Amino acid sequence: MKFALGIETSCDDTSVALVREDGYVECVVTASQDELHSPFGGIVPEIASRNHTHNLIPLIDQIKNQTKFNWNELAGIAVTNRPGLLGSLMVGVVTAKTLSMALGVPFVGVHHLEGHICAPFLKDKIYQPPEFWKSPFLALVVSGGHTAIYKVETFGKYKMLGQTIDDAAGEAFDKFAKLLGFAYPGGPLIEKGAAGGNASKYSFPRGMIKEDNFDFSFSGLKTAAQILLKKMSTDEIAESKSDLCASYQKAITDVLCTKMQNASAQHKIKKMVITGGVSANSALKNAMTEWANKNNAEVLIPPSRYCTDNAAMIALAGIKRLMNSEYSNLDLGAYARSELAEV
Ligand code: KG4
Ligand code: ZN
Repeated sequence: MKFALGIETSCDDTSVALVREDGYVECVVTASQDELHSPFGGIVPEIASRNHTHNLIPLIDQIKNQTKFNWNELAGIAVTNRPGLLGSLMVGVVTAKTLSMALGVPFVGVHHLEGHICAPFLKDKIYQPPEFWKSPFLALVVSGGHTAIYKVETFGKYKMLGQTIDDAAGEAFDKFAKLLGFAYPGGPLIEKGAAGGNASKYSFPRGMIKEDNFDFSFSGLKTAAQILLKKMSTDEIAESKSDLCASYQKAITDVLCTKMQNASAQHKIKKMVITGGVSANSALKNAMTEWANKNNAEVLIPPSRYCTDNAAMIALAGIKRLMNSEYSNLDLGAYARSELAEV
């Protein structure tokens, strides 16, 4: 069985993976930079790219030593080349080209969001996606940098139905976490803080929820939270932390769920995937799964380890292209911006 070596350096996580053509993850290793960026309350691009340079080759070496892998089975290298932080992407792209030349195998540039859309179809010893999952399906890609709904006709054919007009949902989580003095990334900490909280205690705005489109807006939510916190004393904030987190989380998940449910009704598609860092959120997972059970729909969400950025999803998107003899040339660029519809 052929394998792809995946490389992901589009943002702050450095990740390398070996994935089989059937989606089985042989090995994935990721170096998180969360501790380095946490004091700044967000990602510092210069620090991110510098640390990819530091981490990437040792991770490839680790995979080489960790797996009893027959390198003759390597179909090629898959590397995220768009969209993302330019300096970060460049580290992965140049490494992939160099490895491709050294090993004499092809390589292919992968769109980061195509990787996220492939994530629910990865498999390993404890996670198996359903075997016959035919397209078309809807995909909600919801992360720190992106919030968009796509109609996936088939692998490689995507139509964007709507996207955020300002902040991404993950960014909204991270900004509120920063206001509360939490570390970065704030999404998982807001989720933890929301446990046992009353989600109806504070009424945060649900941007664009009533509009007849699939666009999102989360910047007003952050402003509303900022105004509310300014009116509260430090003690009041400390006492109400779980209610604040639960109410804020609910405002985000309500919008995400409503837009996906509307998209399902309008496009008459009952199969959907939710992917990207925010899809690790249990409140979102539970709300969408409950809705799917009641509405005869199917919602596929990857396990948390494949929700956030990882090279396994890039390797899977890449091997589909490599097996189809779709190769990149040595002049492949890295691009900060790129629409998935252009893939
Ligand atoms: O997909 P990802 O790792 O990177 C991007 O492509 O952006 O997503 C990271 C984002 C961060 O904003 C983080 O706060 C959010 O995903 N996130 C969560 C959770 N886990 C990660 N947000 C809410 N709840 C979570 N459990
Ligand atoms: Zn991502």
